[in-house]
Amino acid sequence: MKISPSILSADFTILGLELKALEDGGADYVHVDVMDGRFVPNITIGPFVVEAIRRGTGLPLDVHLMIEEPERYIDEFARAGSSIITVHVEATRHLHKTVQAIKGHGLKAGVSLNPGTPASALEAIMDDADLILVMSVNPGFSGQGFIPSSLAKIRTVRGMIAASGRNIELEVDGGIKAGNIAEVASAGADVFVSGSGIFSTPDYGATIGEMKKRLASVKA
Ligand code: DX5
Ligand code: ZN
Repeated sequence: MKISPSILSADFTILGLELKALEDGGADYVHVDVMDGRFVPNITIGPFVVEAIRRGTGLPLDVHLMIEEPERYIDEFARAGSSIITVHVEATRHLHKTVQAIKGHGLKAGVSLNPGTPASALEAIMDDADLILVMSVNPGFSGQGFIPSSLAKIRTVRGMIAASGRNIELEVDGGIKAGNIAEVASAGADVFVSGSGIFSTPDYGATIGEMKKRLASVKA
């Protein structure tokens, strides 16, 4: 079980210190939300900032592309130092080709679903994806509430992963806090993105520790 804090909720005037606090606090990945103002209304960060984040931490960079035609930018985000690149099924006409392009850089390829997209949209990519990202909010902004119907989708995707016989990570993103992480884990997730759930608390390490404690109780 891994915690992937979303850097979007960090204080960007002290990004290096924020990264250090996450690393010292026991984060497993750093989740980087890339938005283009087209696939989602918001515009956030590009490869230039990903490259700076890469220099600011030794943690794997879990780069979530919320952009149209992500295939146009795979090479740039790979060169910037991504460890995992996740694309949305809704954003590309060429999902298989895009996933192969990510893997061609030696990176883990993630595939994400918006809340309104059924799990069945993953069927043809289960032999290739290294990570599935179930969005539990509509992407675009941090600080939204967890959509309860996401739990059923997480259970369905967990079943699909088991049937594939492959080692695919199941990540969930949006509205996750210490208070609901155990429920999300019970549904079958094993990587948990959290933005405001970590950055709105005074001690990131204590919050990540509390999340891991609650996850340990699910496994037992
Ligand atoms: C939403 C982003 C999320 C977001 C998570 O579009 O993909 O990663 O930053 O933030 P919280 O945990 O506050 O919902
Ligand atoms: Zn995200």
